[in-house]
Amino acid sequence: MAQRFALIIDPVEASEQRADFSDTFTVVDAAAPALSVGELSTQRGDGVFESIGVIDRHAQEVMPHLERLANSARICDLPAPNQEQWRQAVAVAAAECPAGEAVIKLILSRGVEHGPTPTAWVTAAPASDFSNVRRDGVKVVTLDRGYSLDVAEHAPWLLLGAKTLSYAVNMAALREAHRRGADDAIFLSSDGFVLEAPTASLILRFGDRFVTPAPTGGILHGTTQLSVFEYLSERGLQVGYERIPATDLPRADAAWLVSSVRLAVPITAVDAHTLPVAPALTTDLNHYLLSPRD
Ligand SMILES: Cc1ncc(COP(=O)(O)O)c(C=O)c1O
Repeated sequence: MAQRFALIIDPVEASEQRADFSDTFTVVDAAAPALSVGELSTQRGDGVFESIGVIDRHAQEVMPHLERLANSARICDLPAPNQEQWRQAVAVAAAECPAGEAVIKLILSRGVEHGPTPTAWVTAAPASDFSNVRRDGVKVVTLDRGYSLDVAEHAPWLLLGAKTLSYAVNMAALREAHRRGADDAIFLSSDGFVLEAPTASLILRFGDRFVTPAPTGGILHGTTQLSVFEYLSERGLQVGYERIPATDLPRADAAWLVSSVRLAVPITAVDAHTLPVAPALTTDLNHYLLSPRD
């Protein structure tokens, strides 16, 4: 969807305290060029980002997204974002969103080569209509990501666990899934454990227990997965983080891909195996995820 609104942020030190950061924001024409050709985000994918779901101009789960942005910046040795400055930028962008579902993106780039500061900007756009896929679900294939489960510990330069701008691999995995006749993919570690989808977290149901791969395995800790676990545990259901062997996938009693904008999408098949679906629970989950959450 075309961007509707864009705001460049002049980033300040994380420790700077002010009631009003509006003089550090510059609204720009979302359809016009705005970045220097020397930008390291475009040359090297060197930066981090967040995508925040917006419902009727209410940005969802802003603080968890800002905390993850700070964590991604830390992993990538980028200057720590000033949380209040970014919170105010999100509020400005949310007010510019259309009614219904929208998406706000936050981008923090290393900036121009040898430049003094990172480049930072926020965009807002209407979201795609995901109502059909939330109802009908997706077929997924498993794809080897080529790294062992413990790779994040001994190779931190791979930046696993950071939401970096380098999503070319994730997009290539989606194209491979489409070539294989599926809608989406689930990455596996080279030692045979379940990780995540290219743009979503995975939740599996085994009986009354809901599990997701532990984020220590070099995957992104999803804000939507955290929210869904909160919802389920408030209803007395068991939730947990586990090492999940790929061989467990076909045994699941239900499974979902969850993410901030597409929300909860049931998985109807993994590779050649059909999975049971739980339409009433999926509807409840999406109803909850579409309600205003802070
Ligand atoms: C690789 C990856 N894992 C998980 C997620 C889900 O994160 P969230 O629920 O915070 O959107 C995303 C979201 O874009 C992602 O790109």
